[in-house]
Amino acid sequence: MSVVSYEMQGDIGIIWIDNPPVNALSQALRDGIYDAVTAAQDDHSKALLLICRGRTFIAGADISEFGKPLTGRDFNQVLECIEHSAKPIIAAIHGTALGGGLETALACHYRCALPSAMVGLPEVHLGLLPGAGGTQRVPRLIGVEAAIKMITSGAPIKAAAALEAKLIDHMVDGDDLLAGALAYAEQLIANAAPLLRVRDITIDSASFDAAIFDLSRKQLSRQARGQVAPQRIVDCIEAAATMPFDQGLAIEQGHFLDCMASSQSAAMRHIFFAQREASKIKDLPKETSKRHIQSVAIIGGGTMGGGIAMNFANAGIPVTMLEINDQALQRGLAIVDKNYTATVKKGKLSEAKKQCCMDLITGTTNYQDLANVDLVIEAVFENLDIKKQVFAKLDEVCKPGAILATNTSYQDVNAIAAATQRPEDVIGLHFFSPANIMKLLEIVRADKTSDEVIATSMAVAKAIGKVPVLSGVCFGFIGNRMFSQYGREAQLCLIEGASAEQIDRVMENFGMAMGPIAVSDLAGIDIGYKVREAMSDEEKGDPRSYCIADVLVEQGRLGQKTGAGFYKYDPQTRARLNDPEVTALIEAQATKYNITRRAFSDEEIIDRLLLPLVNEGAKILQEGIAQRPSDIDVVYVFGYGFPVYQGGPMHYADHIGLETVYKKLCALQQQSGDDFWQPAELIKNLAENGSSFAHWAHNQN
Ligand code: 3HC
Ligand code: NAI
Repeated sequence: MSVVSYEMQGDIGIIWIDNPPVNALSQALRDGIYDAVTAAQDDHSKALLLICRGRTFIAGADISEFGKPLTGRDFNQVLECIEHSAKPIIAAIHGTALGGGLETALACHYRCALPSAMVGLPEVHLGLLPGAGGTQRVPRLIGVEAAIKMITSGAPIKAAAALEAKLIDHMVDGDDLLAGALAYAEQLIANAAPLLRVRDITIDSASFDAAIFDLSRKQLSRQARGQVAPQRIVDCIEAAATMPFDQGLAIEQGHFLDCMASSQSAAMRHIFFAQREASKIKDLPKETSKRHIQSVAIIGGGTMGGGIAMNFANAGIPVTMLEINDQALQRGLAIVDKNYTATVKKGKLSEAKKQCCMDLITGTTNYQDLANVDLVIEAVFENLDIKKQVFAKLDEVCKPGAILATNTSYQDVNAIAAATQRPEDVIGLHFFSPANIMKLLEIVRADKTSDEVIATSMAVAKAIGKVPVLSGVCFGFIGNRMFSQYGREAQLCLIEGASAEQIDRVMENFGMAMGPIAVSDLAGIDIGYKVREAMSDEEKGDPRSYCIADVLVEQGRLGQKTGAGFYKYDPQTRARLNDPEVTALIEAQATKYNITRRAFSDEEIIDRLLLPLVNEGAKILQEGIAQRPSDIDVVYVFGYGFPVYQGGPMHYADHIGLETVYKKLCALQQQSGDDFWQPAELIKNLAENGSSFAHWAHNQN
């Protein structure tokens, strides 16, 4: 089947694009459009319509073809052919005109759209910049400042805003795009509308402040720390504003190709596909049915319960929050109210929408009120006995078919399921803090969880805007199990001689949202302390990895909330400051454990912290806890602030090469004499065969 077809309706030639699922501009599509436009020059049509079948207008270049050799027309050649058509070409937009899709529309002479359409240039999210004139044409239409904002944010805008900004010329009434677009085309023909080419617009130098470019580059170096593409986007828009069109286009092309070849873009494209792959469960039959989730209950209205409730209310799903007593319930509801109020104050939510959400959240202290809910999520204290009691109670009161989920971070979901007579309905739904903001949702499949419950949970995750990843049952599931190894090494580097400041700086320069020591101070050092209190010495692991934290907690230095932890905090600016008292405390602990402190190189810190993530990730794969390496990357990018432009720990390992990873792990094992560093079998095997996690995953499919 051809991806492009042509038909005449009256004196209008219609170029139909049909390349499911999202009409991505593959080589075949580019060639098809070029041929159709060229052929139409010689027929009796007076205008041409470019319109798409399926759910959307062109959603961009075909990302899966990036890096592959060109076998036909290049994109700019196709757009040049459109732009130089002797007959007006009108783009008719529905769904999302994104990236190369919007660029195609901008090369047309006129653009019309359904009111429900969205347009945008999201290339920056793939470590790229628009590579088919987007940085040159958009500022010519909407102005320099607005273009910088739109293209560096990558955020799409609605049709109404696009019309106001002059990115589109006409809004089609109703929902019949073809009829509306044909009527618009007839009107243009009747008016002998000229061939408007965006490239011919000159940007008036008085329309922008020349300082905007440097200012934007500076701002973006903070907002998009470490990322190259946003900087290059500003360079391209500066070229658009100061040079002739073709020169600007050549500059854009050069930067686009550089970005495309960069490791940052490779990592971000990996995450794009990884995120979509993560929602596919390998052994779940396609026809697995899903249950309808129209009401939800949350047990426990603390830090997590409140945030989880907000997710459902935001999606219009009524929530009942159950607490131990009225006082705790009121406290929980008040926290939710406070969170919404803060969002209203930031201008991100209207007072009316806040009220709608609050109206959807009701409280109770009576389990009988949960008799008819479709899904229950337990978020009580992290204590197995309490959780078992809660599940036994839920088993008594909830209707058959209700899904019973736990938000536990570490407890055994099989043990929790065994507290009920219906383990097939029990699952882990592990949200991340703050639960109303963090995108990741680990879906923890216990031994007896039914396929239907898993399929429903994946769908629920999407309905509330989360990124779901399936995990098997183990201590800490995928994310926390790996994170504890990372945290352990941060503490060991500290006691062995690296400073908190160096560790955080190195990891932040790597791209982490926050370094590990600063994260401990933010989360509260007492949290880990309390978890350890319930553990045996064996479970706690190497005492050198928590002795500093223990002393800090015992001194009342719990982190930011007490104004001091590993750092002290400026009471006015809340800036983190080194504290000589902590240095002395660390030195005392080093002496106690016979450690001679020494200087660390930055590279050593990276290896010490990231290689344990990779090694534990490999063990998680060997054990079948995660479905694929890219799922682990999704967990780290969406749940732990791992830089998307590094692609997640497993992609990072593939990038530096598994042979290097293996050698480094062996060297660390030899130097330390600690079997902690023993490479996972999977790494050893892949390294010996010159393979990678990505290749291994491909062969597993
Ligand atoms: N290229 C190749 N495949 C794509 C694609 C693209 N641009 N966009 C989406 N797909 C694939 C997805 O991988 C997925 O495949 P799968 O079913 O096998 O997993 C399928 O299309 C459906 O995608 P989604 O699950 O994301 O569908 P949604 O309906 O949720 O979202 C969308 C649709 C909003 C279009 C979303 O897919 C999206 O944001 N796509 C990317 C848009 C983009 O980044 N465009 C710019 C590309 S770069 C470019 O154009 C460069 C140019 O300037 C030269
Ligand atoms: P929290 O201490 O803030 O809140 C727990 C709430 O549960 C309290 O309000 C308490 O009154 C209520 N509660 C206790 N027993 C109850 C019962 N039997 N019935 C009804 N309510 C009861 O705890 P937090 O931080 O919200 O954690 C809850 C769960 O979420 C834990 O399992 C934790 O491991 C998990 N979790 C916590 C994260 C975090 O960062 N805080 C992140 C991800 C998961």
